[in-house]
Order: sequence, then structure tokens, then C-alpha cells
Amino acid sequence: MQIAIERKPLDQIAAGALIVPVFEGRKESRFGAALLAEGGEVSGKPLEFTLLHHPAGMAAERVLLAGAGKAEKFNSAELRKLIGAAVRHLNGKSIKSAAVALEGDYAADDFASAALEGALLGNFEPDRYKTGNDKKSMDQFTVAAPAGADSLDDAVTRGRILAEAQNFTRELVNEPANRMTPTRMAEAARQMAAEFGLECEVLDRERMEQLGMFSLLGVAQGSAEPPALIVIRYRPAAANGKTHLGLVGKGVTFDTGGISIKPADGMEKMKYDMAGGAAMIGAMRAIAQLKPAIPVTAFVPCVENMPGSRAQRPGDIVTAMSGKTIEVINTDAEGRLILADAMAYARQQGCTHMVDAATLTGAIVVALGHLNVGLFANNDTMRDRVLGAAKAEGERMWPMPLEDDYKDYLKSAFADLANVGGRWGGAITAAIFLREFAENTPWVHLDIAGTAWLDDAKPFLAKGPTGLPVRTLVRLAMDWKD
Ligand code: BES
Ligand code: ZN
Ligand code: ZN
Repeated sequence: MQIAIERKPLDQIAAGALIVPVFEGRKESRFGAALLAEGGEVSGKPLEFTLLHHPAGMAAERVLLAGAGKAEKFNSAELRKLIGAAVRHLNGKSIKSAAVALEGDYAADDFASAALEGALLGNFEPDRYKTGNDKKSMDQFTVAAPAGADSLDDAVTRGRILAEAQNFTRELVNEPANRMTPTRMAEAARQMAAEFGLECEVLDRERMEQLGMFSLLGVAQGSAEPPALIVIRYRPAAANGKTHLGLVGKGVTFDTGGISIKPADGMEKMKYDMAGGAAMIGAMRAIAQLKPAIPVTAFVPCVENMPGSRAQRPGDIVTAMSGKTIEVINTDAEGRLILADAMAYARQQGCTHMVDAATLTGAIVVALGHLNVGLFANNDTMRDRVLGAAKAEGERMWPMPLEDDYKDYLKSAFADLANVGGRWGGAITAAIFLREFAENTPWVHLDIAGTAWLDDAKPFLAKGPTGLPVRTLVRLAMDWKD
């Protein structure tokens, strides 16, 4: 989609449709809409769309009155959704270009970024393997702003970079597991890094053996596909050398459960078990362009969890890179096993702070549904930073408990800890397991099992991968202060 910003009076904006937000209780009288507003047909209720054709005196072919709800409740997150829904509404009518009118208080940076993000995210369809030519997507999107709002150029660029990174993540997640193996994921990361000037290194099985990553390798051994640990490095021109952010993402390209095999029903969705890793790769794509002051390194352990004849068995005991021994009670709790070694490696590589994202547990879906990412932290400052970034980006996250007493759930009679903690509090015990490998490094764990994938399309977003939490991670790096 082509992006533009224009500073002209609204009647001179040429587009297939000019999107104009209308608010509840504020009757829109322009564009010949007075009667519609009077009669209640245009009420301003959230996501109510009214398409006016050939409005008098307008260069645009149509005006789309877009219900924005109550003005007091409206913010950039609402605008993001509204524009996403408007673009999808127009796509349904094969309208190929649109502009959004940002007037008054809304001609501000965060609204301009959000409008563009909404448009790009709404325009994304996970349809690359459909061969028909009935694809509907928009070619051109314009931000119409008043004269003089110069900073909006940067805001529009920022919005574009963020949304493109998020869509890049969605492309990766949407790939089926036959096309997105650990090796292919590493290739995708390498290609992205080369394009945006980042360093990329991929550790193979042999290297991981040398490093003692037997927790990760235990998961990989059931598959014919070799594992890969992707490392992507961003170094700012002038770093102060004190802090270094590590982004660790679960990259299970398919999760059958292994020997503790999952039921067939719905198993096809387990191609999205690499969404945390894909989010880290996507975040690095934006970070390379926006250039935060802090060094950031992504670590993405990639494996396929399969029940092959070499697969690990329940009861196996593995030694992780940190030296801790783990009794593998359930081979389906594999995410924590690969993250344990990736986190140890991130610490060894000098990361002073870490965030991980993982489709880790079904239990987080039970706890929070599909609306909130489950957030766990071993450090209050780090927790507040991530929560603040998430709030600013409109990615909902909810803090969960991480108290020492839960550690009892992970007791093993035969090893330092078991990889599962029984039936209750499953998202918490998974986080407690990871905490053992964060050790004293300030760290936040994001369980995105309920939020990385949409089972049903929303008005503003297609069914399938959401690309969470790319924007939060990028903002965390951009706003970092030592
Ligand atoms: N990848 C799954 C978690 C998951 C579940 C992601 C649903 C997305 C949707 C993870 O590896 C897993 O299987 N977890 C088990 C843990 C259990 C064995 C302790 C789970 O949640 O059932
Ligand atoms: Zn699993
Ligand atoms: Zn998994």
C-alpha cells in the first residue's frame, strides 16, 4: 500500500473515499449529512459506517462517515481500530484508495501514527496461498492534515514502520509448518537482517551441544528438522554500555505435543507456536529503522516438537545450559524447555534486561481469554516499563502473580525441577519455571497463547495472526532510559 500525507483543505483531497470520524452527540452537518444526522441514521456510534457518494464540492469520490463513539472516550487506540475497520469496510466494496481526515486535536503525532497503523493492519489478509484473483486490498492511503502540522511526517513514517513490522510478523506466523521449519525461520531472519543492516547469527545443533543446551536439544530430538537458535543484534551508534535489552521468543514451528501428544482437534493451529519468536524478529525489523539508543539482541530458539522415534520421553532428565537438571514430565510443555536455554544464553551474551514472548500455556487463555496478554515479572520497574509501553500502544496486557510459594508446584523427586506443575495455575507455574533461568536479571515474561491468534476476524483485523506484541517491544526499546 502506498502511503502519503497531504496538507490541503478536505474538499481538495482526491481519493476513492475520504474517511471522516463522526462522534456521538456531535451532529455532522458537512458533506450533505445534516439530514442523516438529524434522522439518527448517522449517530456516531462506534464502527457505524455510512458511505456518501459524490458529495457536492468534494474532490473525493465518496465520504465514509465513520462512527467514532463518544469524543471523551476516543483516543489513538480507538482511531487505530476505527481506521482498520474503515479500510476493511472499503475493501469489501473494492475501493482502492482512501484518505483519513485528521482535524483539530486529532492532527497530532500519536493519532497520525495510529491511523496509518490501523490502515496497514486492517489491509492485511492471510491469503497468500489462495490462488484466485478476487483479492481485495487497498493500494493507496493518505493522511489529510491541516497545513503546518510538520511533525506528522515523522509520525506517519513511524506508524508505517511499526505496522509493516507487525505485518511481517503476521506473515511469518501465518506460514504453515511445512513451509516454516526452524531452518526456514532462520533464513527469513537472515534475509530481514541483511535488508535492514542488522547482524544475524544462527547457532546449529553442534554449537548448541558445545554450549550445553540440552534442554532445548531434548525438544528438538524428536524431529527430522534440525533446530536453530537465531540471534539478531542491533547496536546503536553511541551506546553507553550499561544496559542491553534481550528479546527472547518461543519459536516452536509446530507443536504436536511430542510423545505427550495433543488431541487432533484444532492441532492445525499449532503452527502459530512460533508467534513469540516471530514477534521478536518483527520487532528487530522496526528497531533497525527507528534506531533506539539501547543495544537490543533477539534470541529465537526454533524447534519442531514431534513424536519421532528419537523423541524425548516423559521421565527423561535433561541438563540445561545453566547447569540445572529438569525432569520432563510432559513433553508438551516444551516452550519453557527451549526458552530456558535461550534465556541462559542471552544472559551469557551480556543482556542486562530481558523480555520473552511465548505462546506458552493454554492456561493463560483460561485465565484471561483472548483479550489480554498475561504479563509476569521478577522486577517491578521492568514490569511497569512494559505495561506502560503496552498501554501507549493499545496492546492489552494484564499483570499476573509470580510468588515464590508457587515454586513448590515444580518439585521433582529426581531432578532440580519438573517441567510441569500439575493442573492448577498452569500459566503461573510455567512463568515460575522460566524465572529459574532469568535468575537475577530483570525480566518480563509475556504469555501470548490467547492473543497471538484471532479465531474470528474482528471488524479491524483479519482472522489469524495478530502480530502482538511487536509494537510494545519496539516502544519499550525506543523509550528506554537507564
Ligand atoms: N503451545 C502450547 C500452548 C498453547 C495452547 C498455545 C493453546 C496456544 C494455544 C504449549 O506448548 C503447551 O502445550 N502447553 C501445555 C502445558 C501443559 C502440558 C503443562 C498446555 O498449555 O496444555
Ligand atoms: Zn506444547
Ligand atoms: Zn508449545
